[in-house]
Amino acid sequence: MPTRFLKANTTMLKDERITVKVDFYDKGSLLALSYKEGLLNLSHTEHTMAKRVAVIGAGVSGLSSIKCCLDEDLEPTCFERSNDIGGLWKFTETSKDGITRVYKSLVTNVCKEMSCYSDFPFQEDYPNFMKQEKFWDYLQEFAEHFDLLKYIQFRTTVCSVTKRPDFSETGQWDVVTETEGKLDRAIFDAVMVCTGHFLNPHLPLESFPGIHKFKGQILHSQEYKIPAGFQDKRVLVIGLGNTGGDIAVELSRTAAQVLLSTRTGTWVISRSSDGGYPFNMMGTRRRHNFTAQVLPSCVLKWSQERGLNKRFDHTNYGLNITKGKKPKIIVNDELPTCILCGTVTMKTSVKEFTETSALFEDGTVEENIDVVIFTTGYTFSFPFLEEPLKSLCTKKIFLYKLVFPSNLERTTLAMIGFISLTGSILAGTELQARWATRVFKGLCKIPPSQKLMAEATKKEQLIERGLMKDTSGDKLDYISYMDDLAACIGTKPNVPLLFLKDPRLAWEVFFGPCTPYQYRLMGPGKWDGARNAILTQWDRTLKPLKTRIVPDSSKPASMSHYLKAWGAPILLASLLLICKSSLFFEIGARKTMGQNFSLLNKYLARINLLGYEGCTKSY
Ligand SMILES: Cc1cc2nc3c(=O)[nH]c(=O)nc-3n(C[C@H](O)[C@H](O)[C@H](O)COP(=O)(O)OP(=O)(O)OC[C@H]3O[C@@H](n4cnc5c(N)ncnc54)[C@H](O)[C@@H]3O)c2cc1C
Ligand SMILES: NC(=O)c1ccc[n+]([C@@H]2O[C@H](COP(=O)([O-])OP(=O)(O)OC[C@H]3O[C@@H](n4cnc5c(N)ncnc54)[C@H](OP(=O)(O)O)[C@@H]3O)[C@@H](O)[C@H]2O)c1
Repeated sequence: MPTRFLKANTTMLKDERITVKVDFYDKGSLLALSYKEGLLNLSHTEHTMAKRVAVIGAGVSGLSSIKCCLDEDLEPTCFERSNDIGGLWKFTETSKDGITRVYKSLVTNVCKEMSCYSDFPFQEDYPNFMKQEKFWDYLQEFAEHFDLLKYIQFRTTVCSVTKRPDFSETGQWDVVTETEGKLDRAIFDAVMVCTGHFLNPHLPLESFPGIHKFKGQILHSQEYKIPAGFQDKRVLVIGLGNTGGDIAVELSRTAAQVLLSTRTGTWVISRSSDGGYPFNMMGTRRRHNFTAQVLPSCVLKWSQERGLNKRFDHTNYGLNITKGKKPKIIVNDELPTCILCGTVTMKTSVKEFTETSALFEDGTVEENIDVVIFTTGYTFSFPFLEEPLKSLCTKKIFLYKLVFPSNLERTTLAMIGFISLTGSILAGTELQARWATRVFKGLCKIPPSQKLMAEATKKEQLIERGLMKDTSGDKLDYISYMDDLAACIGTKPNVPLLFLKDPRLAWEVFFGPCTPYQYRLMGPGKWDGARNAILTQWDRTLKPLKTRIVPDSSKPASMSHYLKAWGAPILLASLLLICKSSLFFEIGARKTMGQNFSLLNKYLARINLLGYEGCTKSY
């Protein structure tokens, strides 16, 4: 038997005449060889083999990868180096293990309806934006609901992932793991790398002359957990991403002064938009993408900047984007107020450090700095891969749709979660995992590696020669990227068709927020609850806000409400008619204006009270 035939199940079926049936697997396909009555028969069934998939990491991406494997009848084994699920959402008091995790006060910046697994909405009473521990609870609920925990091997680090000698035929990988000092080795048909986009702290000390002379405390935001220890200190925060903004605001409450240094500046948006609705629900809509395609880019830019400067003028607050730099956006509700109150001072980039001070690009000097916190972001790497795959995977232009490395002749390695999006990373990684598992099964195809390599290499050369802009690190438009992947899977909502079949739903899909449920309406992985989830998404958004129910005459709720609303004026009119004669008699008798008003008020108050009590009972 040729060596490429890897597994063999032999069944001897004996009857009066001898029959032999041998099933064996070749490259993921089931081949059955049978011998009966002197005839040899070979049959071939595509994609019947349950493939073994290694999932590395049990964070947001790893959990969705395990579930997607199960949905496609694949056999996942997940290796997680820590002792729990959730990846960076699992808060720990210290960062001694070097794993990137959230700080204590972190609140999500994508609201719950926009950042949930597409067939598992948050419970309706969860807040729209939630503290990290609440988000972790959701991940735990997801893992328990779909029974994912039993597929995870905790405290197990993946040390190496290497191609098998027959990789070009089988696409298989040798995976070496380490659990509490013990090495193990196993063969997998496919690997999903879910080790996180924020694996290593980016600490660009070489860009800061004199930093080694600085005598104060230096740390990276990966080490930051709580504000204790920074009281009454003069703190310099370097780098204005979401982390820089959050840490500057938090420390401004206790530190003597917070200085926030930025090379670029940033647009700052708030979690609540006009009307108090979560900004993602208002801003991430198909109709906006449609308008953006139609409008000239200069008009679009002008209108966006006008909107962003509406709450406060970024130039006045020292936050405006430096000329020639790529604009960016952070979510922060308090930073403008801190700047307004002087507890955070905006600074340009640092030119040089001395033992105790920092000289800035604009020539200003800040003395007596106690602490420098680098909130300069993270890098990612794949220490367990071998070269040249290891280096190639860190260049995003060599990842087809940011998932499949271009140089592999077999598409059995998928990188999940190495994306920056203008929306939820969770939703993006889930769709990546849905696509990848279908590619593993051969149900979705990707172009051959020669073609992908040629295109990516050409792009790289053009960038090196300065003939093309390198946009690989830019945030991708959420809806465009999601639709692109969904089209590959066959699950992209067909909005025109939906308008014909189900106009109410189509209206919400096109004009309403582009929630992840939209990618479960049709095609493979269709979820029967998707329609209802879309039509009730605003209920779940408003539910956690309505914790104090008060009568609201401006929002009629039911027929009885209408009756009560109209009942009060009718009652008022009737009472006025009944009382008319005696009222005017009394008014005439007393003859004073003040008394007239007080009596009238007395009657009106009684009537109002009746109406008010009637309304209260309806709630
Ligand atoms: C501070 C911060 C706040 C964020 N806030 C938001 C937000 O509000 N909304 C949003 O959508 N996104 C947010 N993000 C983006 C965030 O990256 C995603 O939400 C999501 O957590 C990414 O999950 P992941 O599974 O890809 O990576 P991670 O959460 O980093 O998980 C990777 C897992 O892989 C494990 N691992 C790594 N290497 C190995 C190995 N060799 N062997 C075994 N296991 C390994 C790690 O232990 C970890 O558990 C935030 C990111 C950061 C840094
Ligand atoms: N609430 C939340 O949900 C929340 C909170 C925190 C983080 N996050 C997410 O976590 C991820 C990481 O965020 P992050 O803020 O840590 O990193 P980041 O988004 O990469 O921002 C790092 C910032 O550091 C500065 N910087 C980078 N390289 C530098 C260099 N060589 N010298 C000087 N400055 C440099 C840049 O700011 P300047 O150009 O301004 O200098 C850059 O914007 C993001 O996806 C973010 O959205 C979310």
